[in-house]
Amino acid sequence: MSIQRSDIADGGRPAYRAIADALERAIGVGDFGPGERLPPVRDLAKKLGVTVGTVNRAYVLAQSRGLLTGEVGRGTFVLARPDRQSRIRIAAQDAASVSDLVVNQPPCVLSDEEVSASAAKALAAGGADLLGRYPPTAGLERHRAALARWVGRIGMPATADQVLITAGVHSAIAATCLAWLRPGDTILVDQLTYPGARDLLGSLKFRLEPVATDGDGALPDSLAAAARAHGGRAFLTCPTLHNPTAVTMPDDRRRQIAQVIEQNDLLLIEDDIYGHLPTARPAPIAVHLPERAVLVSGLSKCLAPGLRLGYIVAPLDRVGSITTALHDLLVAASPLPAELFSHWQDTGQADEVLGRIRAAIARRREIAGDLLGMAPPDGSPHLWLPLPPAWSAGRLVEEAVRQGIYLPRSDVFQVGRTAPSPKAIRVALGSVPGEAELALALGRLRALLDQPPPRAAPVI
Ligand SMILES: Cc1ncc(COP(=O)(O)O)c(C=O)c1O
Repeated sequence: MSIQRSDIADGGRPAYRAIADALERAIGVGDFGPGERLPPVRDLAKKLGVTVGTVNRAYVLAQSRGLLTGEVGRGTFVLARPDRQSRIRIAAQDAASVSDLVVNQPPCVLSDEEVSASAAKALAAGGADLLGRYPPTAGLERHRAALARWVGRIGMPATADQVLITAGVHSAIAATCLAWLRPGDTILVDQLTYPGARDLLGSLKFRLEPVATDGDGALPDSLAAAARAHGGRAFLTCPTLHNPTAVTMPDDRRRQIAQVIEQNDLLLIEDDIYGHLPTARPAPIAVHLPERAVLVSGLSKCLAPGLRLGYIVAPLDRVGSITTALHDLLVAASPLPAELFSHWQDTGQADEVLGRIRAAIARRREIAGDLLGMAPPDGSPHLWLPLPPAWSAGRLVEEAVRQGIYLPRSDVFQVGRTAPSPKAIRVALGSVPGEAELALALGRLRALLDQPPPRAAPVI
């Protein structure tokens, strides 16, 4: 048994997460092989000096990461040997000059001067009151109204009382699911999905089932079949600049998906986090489902990820139960980011920053087009790059880190391990600080892809 107490003695993380990480490491280095049975929860809990519930949670989290299979309590087995992303991540963090093509954020276009000047103005009148009181759970009325105007721009009509303010998209998804569903319910998701949402829903003990997609996004027939086969209660999708594929679902597909949702009595959770980035886009699917859709989004990709400002747009009759769930999760999000955002919107600065981000993304798309022969779609800060036949995604991640380029493993986006690992890699274009550095990193990536993968060291 290769997990020790010392493996999980990391004060910064909850114990269940530390155990799941230790399991991932142990599987990654081959201490547990595919098909191997993990120790019973009770035995491992005793050995590590933690509760049975903690180990249970760790196993569920490891399952949601696609590492394990089986029923917790009856027998949990190692699913497949993933490549060595955890170790690569550590190696990359240690390396002096690593170009980060992993973190999917917009290029930083803000200056200290404009942030401090606008924050001072935003807080000049009423700042003390803002900090001196608990805000209402759903947010202050004027902030909700500001966000209602903001979502109106993407073709989603909303009133202030339909908007709830959150601390980013994760709490928006969590509050929606806790209010509308029960742990153990099945949520259908795109077969490739933002891993943060997948892990969150796994931690909350929802079951996830994949829906097949094509070049236009989720397939209506596959959604209907998955809903029937698994008794799905909800569908979580990101139809505008999907992460990782950057696909934007066209309007006619959105209408078909809305129909399937209606026919199968599903809740739609539409993650629109990239929705303000394209200059033109179809209206959200949620528009077609006013009684059974929740739009979750935030300002991370279009204005400033550090604001941690997210929001939910919900049917009026669901606002009460989502507010209760949100209160359980975080009492209320801080009103400071919303105050700053409202000020930015009133002064036109929000439009101006969004314009600068769009322009910076456009320049980076062009660099990607020149150097990789493929640019992401309009507004997308990430590219889903198909790989030449000789390369697998896992091999590329390993070799890239040797060249000082940090890429995400492609199977982190997968839900369920039945499909083969995707033969593409997500390249996030916004994190590298400068365009020249991005060009260097993409040039090195191109050079790597132009050669066959180096032979692995002989094993004797
Ligand atoms: C689809 C999707 N949803 C949500 C998020 C995270 O949003 P937030 O910054 O609000 O946590 C991301 C971040 O990459 C994402 O890709």
